[in-house]
Amino acid sequence: MSKPEKDIRQQVRKAYGATAAKQMSCCPPRPSCCDKSGSATDLPVPEAELGLSCGNPVAFSHLSPGQVVLDLGSGAGKDVFLAAQKVGRSGRAIGVDMTDEMLALARRNAENFRRATGLDNVEFRKGYIEDLPVEGDSIDVVISNCVINLSPDKPKVFREVFRVLKNGGKMVVSDIVLNRALPPELKDDEDLYSACIAGALLREDYLRAIRQAGFARIEVLADKTYAPSLDTADPVTCKAGAVLAGVASSVTVMAVKA
Ligand SMILES: C[S@@+](CC[C@H](N)C(=O)[O-])C[C@H]1O[C@@H](n2cnc3c(N)ncnc32)[C@H](O)[C@@H]1O
Repeated sequence: MSKPEKDIRQQVRKAYGATAAKQMSCCPPRPSCCDKSGSATDLPVPEAELGLSCGNPVAFSHLSPGQVVLDLGSGAGKDVFLAAQKVGRSGRAIGVDMTDEMLALARRNAENFRRATGLDNVEFRKGYIEDLPVEGDSIDVVISNCVINLSPDKPKVFREVFRVLKNGGKMVVSDIVLNRALPPELKDDEDLYSACIAGALLREDYLRAIRQAGFARIEVLADKTYAPSLDTADPVTCKAGAVLAGVASSVTVMAVKA
């Protein structure tokens, strides 16, 4: 039987709260989710890169000055800062995250971002991506990097994205999808859930949920088989072993609120 939503959120919050707390105490964090493919070399705040991403949605978003961007599950703020540089003084980049420790880290990084760039156009809000603390029809571009797979209700996340976007606005999300179903014993593995695998939807179910939320022009812009490290010091990948090979892909998907 699948776990209640609040238990899933609790477990995910605990995992990412611990990652953020380690970074706050100046120890290098041990990334628990995803790979380095989203590493951003032009990040003015290098400490916002925690190695938790699985793509680079900003690179595919073609942001312009003046736009309002929303990042779902903003973590330490990396993609918010990248977006804020693209939209400039007349635009805004807003991050939403449910984990207090991540929000504290992102807000501390925002101070460094302001000092480094002179831009004062970022904001971090506490909230769930299934119930966004954002006005309807107010956002030009919604981005997200390796987060929606962690949600206990992905269709609701896409409906929320549709609600907050302006007409003609777009969503560009990098995320993990499954290429085949996981064995039931791995599906219930807490560590593997927080590591962005066990909660991921099959690719076709993911794209269907986007379509059913009302989006048009759905396109997969990047698609890479996800190769989790088989480091034996990592209890998650060690436990799952070879079963994980080829099971998941990191994709970047664009969709438009037409
Ligand atoms: C894998 S990390 C990715 C962080 C960031 N996007 C990056 O690429 O560095 C997932 C983040 O999403 C947040 N998160 C997970 N599920 C969430 C939910 N249902 N609502 C809001 N935030 C959530 C976690 O607190 C964490 O900060």
